[in-house]
Amino acid sequence: MMGIWELASLLLGLLALQYLKQLWSSRNYPPGPFQLPLVGGVWWVRKKFSQDIFIKLAKQYGNIFTIWLGSYPIVILSGYQAVKEGLIVRSEDFAARPVTPTLKALFKKRGIITSNGHIWKQQRRFGQVTLGKLGVGKKCTEHIVEEAAHQLVEIFTLAKGHPIDPILPISTKIFKVVCAVVFGHQSYFQEEEIEKILEESETGIKFAGTISHILYELFPRLMDRLPTPFRKMRAMVDKRILHLREEIARHKEYQMQNEPQDFTDFYLLQMEKSKNDPDSTYNEDNLVQCILDFLVAGTETSSTTLQWALLLMGVHPEIQDKVYKEMENVLGTSQSICYQDRKKMPYTNAVIHEIMRLKYVFPIGVARRSVKDVTMHGYTIPKGTFVVPDLTSVLLDPKQWETPRDFNPQHFLDKDGQFVAREEFLAFGAGPRVCLGEQLARMEIFLFFTHLLRSFRFYFPEGTDQINQDPLVGFLLHPEAYKICAVPR
Ligand code: HEM
Repeated sequence: MMGIWELASLLLGLLALQYLKQLWSSRNYPPGPFQLPLVGGVWWVRKKFSQDIFIKLAKQYGNIFTIWLGSYPIVILSGYQAVKEGLIVRSEDFAARPVTPTLKALFKKRGIITSNGHIWKQQRRFGQVTLGKLGVGKKCTEHIVEEAAHQLVEIFTLAKGHPIDPILPISTKIFKVVCAVVFGHQSYFQEEEIEKILEESETGIKFAGTISHILYELFPRLMDRLPTPFRKMRAMVDKRILHLREEIARHKEYQMQNEPQDFTDFYLLQMEKSKNDPDSTYNEDNLVQCILDFLVAGTETSSTTLQWALLLMGVHPEIQDKVYKEMENVLGTSQSICYQDRKKMPYTNAVIHEIMRLKYVFPIGVARRSVKDVTMHGYTIPKGTFVVPDLTSVLLDPKQWETPRDFNPQHFLDKDGQFVAREEFLAFGAGPRVCLGEQLARMEIFLFFTHLLRSFRFYFPEGTDQINQDPLVGFLLHPEAYKICAVPR
């Protein structure tokens, strides 16, 4: 029988072999931080994690570098040129998404964001066409967004200039807009239910990057057997899926008598139309995941952007006043503001873009996967490699922006004060996987921002020492909780 020392030596030997294999397989990849056995280079990233970590690593290793998560390489593209090459010039080469053990366990390769191949093509195409039919980016959705913006103004009015934490009111109204697109009626979720969902989604966002998350990615089978936070999260997602299925069932009954009104109606109709098509991926599992994708991708992103917007307006009262003045000049006595008005408001439009640039909500970007062996900058990135286009590094790239770390709306204005759309503004990604909700997000941010700034002057409560503008780093970059006063104009 093997003694304890022999067993320990055997394990050590196996570990050393595994480590040598790990080092050997890394030789053709772009360089990166030192790797430890089992965990790779991720220890370094966790230890030094900050909003800037990938920008700092790019300074050390170049615009294409590798971080090892155990024995999995993650190739990071940094700065405008490298990201443009990855997402635009070689758009098809990196068009897939990685399916990590966590994503597979939670989202089961369905829907749009985490699916690939035929499922992704069919679901994405359908999503795009249907959002178009529902008038996303056009007048029909504009009414929904406008209504939500009015409700938000009412909430601030009720605070009567007293300090108010804007997070919950903004997130709730943005959530309702997405609900209206997918379910057609805003009343399905009651306020309390929405607050619970938003809390749950925050738990999910906070889970990303934790030790528990990393351990699940490295040892999913083992972690599945232990009572970890991941188990709690999976139970939470499964419960939500069950609720969505109940809503879909209600839609099925209602649909018998009516024309399609919302995303779910259109999807159910498509399922019926293609029920005899062997290539069809239209089924209830994919429908549930598409809805979840819209709710997850479409709530925290837009609402966090608006939280940054109010914070920056409080910090820069002179810019806030300039936006107000432009609105007054353009709109005059008219009470309503519509999305088209942005074309007549170059300064306001530039301010919104600058908020999204400087306080970009994703710490890096949304990961992709190479669909074939790709040679870039002299390195080989094998098929199936996890590739992250660091969008923050693009939006802060000193080669592209005059004052990348300052809040400077001039970045989006020409010498005559006209708005300039910059191709380096890759906040929504690019290529075949570009954000599907870009039009909706742009409309929400413009209409919420202008409705609020036309109605109120925002400032921080007396006695507020200093506003922390550094983000809390997680899956998204949130501002630290703050309170703000909204005084009617
Ligand atoms: C400020 C708001 C938003 C930002 C900054 C944002 C940003 C992004 C980014 C960077 C990606 C990845 C793109 C890529 O891989 O190139 C993405 C994907 C996606 N977004 Fe958004 N997004 C926002 C709002 C929304 C909204 C409102 C929705 C829908 C209601 C939405 C739905 C999606 C979907 C479905 C995808 C996956 C696309 C695919 O994989 O084919 N997003 N978004």
